[in-house]
Amino acid sequence: RQATPLTGKKVIVTAGGTRERIDPVRFITNDSSGKMGYAIAEEMKRRGADVTLISAPTKLEVPAGVNLVPVLTTEDLADAVTKAFKQADILVMAAAVADFKPVNSADQKIKKTADNDQMTIKLTKTADILKQVAKLKQPGQITVGFAAETQNLLDNAQQKLVNKQLDLLIANDVSKPGVGFNGDTNQVTILQPDQAPIKTQLADKHVIAKQVVDQISQRVQKEG
Ligand code: PMT
Repeated sequence: RQATPLTGKKVIVTAGGTRERIDPVRFITNDSSGKMGYAIAEEMKRRGADVTLISAPTKLEVPAGVNLVPVLTTEDLADAVTKAFKQADILVMAAAVADFKPVNSADQKIKKTADNDQMTIKLTKTADILKQVAKLKQPGQITVGFAAETQNLLDNAQQKLVNKQLDLLIANDVSKPGVGFNGDTNQVTILQPDQAPIKTQLADKHVIAKQVVDQISQRVQKEG
């Protein structure tokens, strides 16, 4: 196969929604199916990269030749990403990460009681993985984040690009039909610190993955 700028590059892709336990039978998660991340992993592999997919639970098949690291919680994901990042050339964080987790996870199933019509679960913030990674980042390493927004897409995404010190930020307006969580399609705007935003059409997640990977590949070419 012909060499590409991504041939032999060590790429980490994260996917799926992290799970935070409330008790042995309940957890908090989100609508991520993993499709966007898996499509990116597959496209990276197709271009010759050495791909590690760190994935929260999904119903998807792992693309051929991709190494899977399964995780459940945000803490698991943070540990796996920070460990793998040391050796990596590129990190793509497509996972939908819980921003909060229960302060306490009960050892036994929480029971309904006759005198309690309401219950409160106290949540605490999780660690911001991309912010942790920003501190570890060495020259030449490329970090790519996603932004799932329901309002002020470009402003919020631009802030994430800067705050998380990313090379690329893939913004999706998940309030629009066919965009973001769960479905087979997406529509994104690709932000980079030194370039005008690139807005894609609504298309299959595999087509979007190609467009995202094209931009990452161009950055690798520029920096190499
Ligand atoms: O999985 P699918 O069903 O195909 O859906 C795709 C998707 C909507 C999940 C995907 O396109 C997407 O937008 N993924 C990122 C979702 C998300 O967590 O967005 P955010 O705006 O809350 O976070 C911004 C970035 O910081 C993300 O890259 C996220 O992975 C990362 N993050 C978030 C929280 C946290 N504690 N640590 C992080 O590193």
